[in-house]
This record gives sequence, C-alpha cells and structure tokens, in this order.
Amino acid sequence: MTTIAIVNQKGGVGKTTTAVNLASYIAKAGKKVLLVDLDPQGNSTSGLGVDKSSIESCLYDILINEKAVEDIKINSNISGLEIIPASVVLAGAEVELVKEFSRETKLKRALEKIKGDYDFILIDCPPSLGLLTVNGLVAADKIIIPVQSEYYALEGLSQLLHTVQRIKTYLNPHLSLLGVVITMYDKRTILSKQVEEELKKHFPGKLFEAIIPRSIRLAEAPSHGKAIMQYDWLSKGAAAYKKLAKEVIDLCRQETSA
Ligand SMILES: Nc1ncnc2c1ncn2[C@@H]1O[C@H](COP(=O)(O)OP(=O)(O)O)[C@@H](O)[C@H]1O
Ligand SMILES: [Mg+2]
Repeated sequence: MTTIAIVNQKGGVGKTTTAVNLASYIAKAGKKVLLVDLDPQGNSTSGLGVDKSSIESCLYDILINEKAVEDIKINSNISGLEIIPASVVLAGAEVELVKEFSRETKLKRALEKIKGDYDFILIDCPPSLGLLTVNGLVAADKIIIPVQSEYYALEGLSQLLHTVQRIKTYLNPHLSLLGVVITMYDKRTILSKQVEEELKKHFPGKLFEAIIPRSIRLAEAPSHGKAIMQYDWLSKGAAAYKKLAKEVIDLCRQETSA
C-alpha cells in the first residue's frame, strides 16, 4: 500500500490530469485505488464524472468535521477507483485548519483507518504550499512532481523541494520523491528537449521514462467527465499515462519488496 501526493505549487502544470489518469490506469491494472481531491477547485472530482453540485459532503467534512472516510468516499465511473471528492467549501479548510490542533496531520490520521483497503492512494494537491498541501505531504509516502515542458519549467521547484525537506524533518521522515514527470511535451520544439535535459541534470534517475505529450484529447476528456482511457484510449496521451502507471506500479513494488 503506497500513498502518493501529486504536487507542484504552480497551477496548470498537469497535476489533476496526471492524478485522474494515473489513478484510472492503476485501477485498470487491477489495483484498488482511492483518489483524494485536495484541491477546492474539485477538478479531479468533476474529471471523473462526479457532479460537484450534487455532492453533499466532501473532504472538508473529513478535515474539519471529523467525518469518516467511509462516509464521504464515492465510487467513480471506473471499476476499482473510488474518490474522496472536493468542492468549493474545501477552500474554507485552508483557513479553518490554522486554529485546529494537529492541523498538519488531519488527512494522515483520516487515511490511516482505511489504508488497508487500498493498494494505492493518490492525492491531487492544490496549486499552493499552504496547509492543504502540507496535509497531503504529511499523509504521503511518495511524491510525484509533474513539470510542464515550458520556459519557466524549473522555476519554483527549489521552493517545493525545500518544503518537502522541512516536512521530512519535522512531520514525515519517510517521505521521498518517487519521480518527476514531464507534461505537455511537444517533441517538435527545441525547448521541450532543453527542459528534458535540465530535469535529467537536476533529478538524476528520478525522471519517469513516460513523457506526457501535449494532446488536445487529454484536455478534452475532463469536460466529458472522463479519464483518457474512457475518452480516447488509442490516443498518444492515453498510451503515455498507461506507461506512467506501469512505471509507478513497478517502482512501488520494488520498494516494498526491498
Ligand atoms: N498533456 C496535456 N496536453 C494538453 N493539455 C493538457 C495536458 N495536461 C493538462 N492539460 C490541460 O491543461 C490545463 C491544466 O491542467 P491540470 O491538470 O488541470 O493542471 P493543474 O492540476 O496542475 O492545475 C487543463 O485545462 C488540462 O486539461
Ligand atoms: Mg489541479
């Protein structure tokens, strides 16, 4: 059982797209998966076909009202994949957590009770390094950092790694980087190649082989409430996320058997 936070404080780098599609392909490989939507925007929630306006309770109730995960989690439209949904009320948790006792470990303690029911728990973090993301990092064993293939790709990564280091020191000593995944890659541009080389230098041995191409199909799928394997399983983006899922499963298997 591995808990993985998908994290990068920059918005629009492909965290949610990675969370949804990685979760769905891991589930398709026969694993039991829980996706935790830690972003008040709820894009993972709607991306998996859950109508945000119809949900009565969400992750907020787990973090602030001490509701049990069992009472909040719902089935996605993919077999083996459940989700703890998010809605806008979760934005309030960022503020309300400040005055709570053990505010950084709320998610960790909630997930501890149900961990045994899953092979993988994936956490889709919001685009900030605030208390919600801290809860994600404290609850996780591993992190995956999606990096968008663009000019400022590496900007902000040192701040992110600094935060991860602080979490390790004070709150979660066994947290570690599972890998960095390049998203929105355009193989026709020199820039994409340069970003790839830079990342190889900065994260030796930690760059996933799977590289996610820029693909209109990946961008369209969420508006239909579908993962790419449901929307267009023959697309390049689908193949890339399927490959990423295999790498993640294999890496985690190696680590647990080591
Ligand atoms: N590989 C990709 N190719 C094309 N568009 C993408 C790709 N990955 C994500 N997108 C689009 O880019 C936007 C930001 O992606 P998203 O996953 O929501 O990022 P984040 O969660 O980091 O904010 C969304 O509109 C999404 O559909
Ligand atoms: Mg997102």
